[in-house]
Amino acid sequence: MSVTIRTAAGLPDLGEQAAATVLARLQASTRPVLGVATGSSPLPLYQALARRRAELPPLRAFALDEYLGLPAGHPQSYREVVRREVTAPLGLDPAEVFVPDGGTNNPDRAAAAYEDTIRAAGGIDVQVLGIGSNGHLAFNEPGSPLDSRTRVVDLDASTRQANARFFASPEEVPYRALTQGLGTILEAKALVLMAAGESKAEAVERALCGPVTPELPASVLQLHPDVTVLLAEGANKLLPREAGANLK
Ligand code: GLP
Repeated sequence: MSVTIRTAAGLPDLGEQAAATVLARLQASTRPVLGVATGSSPLPLYQALARRRAELPPLRAFALDEYLGLPAGHPQSYREVVRREVTAPLGLDPAEVFVPDGGTNNPDRAAAAYEDTIRAAGGIDVQVLGIGSNGHLAFNEPGSPLDSRTRVVDLDASTRQANARFFASPEEVPYRALTQGLGTILEAKALVLMAAGESKAEAVERALCGPVTPELPASVLQLHPDVTVLLAEGANKLLPREAGANLK
């Protein structure tokens, strides 16, 4: 593997470092495709990219995942989150921003169609990732096959609980989602993982230093040739001291 690990001075610095990496990848591509993640971790990146939006080439964007079964236009559907946090502030063309179809009555077909759309776009140049405190990537929960593709998944109770903070009540959090698979994510040319806070420290340490196993989905990062891990606010706390530059 080739993992570069950097620790940021705080959230704004985390965003600036991520933006520099993402912009370099997009600018180097003839047909730039950005993979976007939801959750709170990548927000400093989107804020930094919004400040530097003049430097963004015209691009396509693909979201990692989407809840199944939320009413259309629900503010916490990832379609809405991506529109609010990414498409609008970065000035992207909404017709070039794709999110799995969480309102479909045929989610298996929607999952396969999503894979086709990514492939037709030429694949993802740089995929932004957060990490769940249970080690999930996108909505690939522990137990997800390392070669999994975009598919329907059940959310872990711990994930529903963690994401309840975004909803009016915990019962409102959907039970199922569509997510890019770990195999899909590994096909992106470059990965940028962002994590902030001590609650992520154990998952980060296990992902980067532990065995590669479906029990800790983010451990697949070790199988990718081009990963940048950007950490802030204690997310690096459990990493060995020498893990500042290149881990292996
Ligand atoms: C969600 C998303 C993931 C994200 C994770 C962590 O469950 N599906 O893509 O990485 O939460 O979220 P946060 O960054 O808010 O901690």
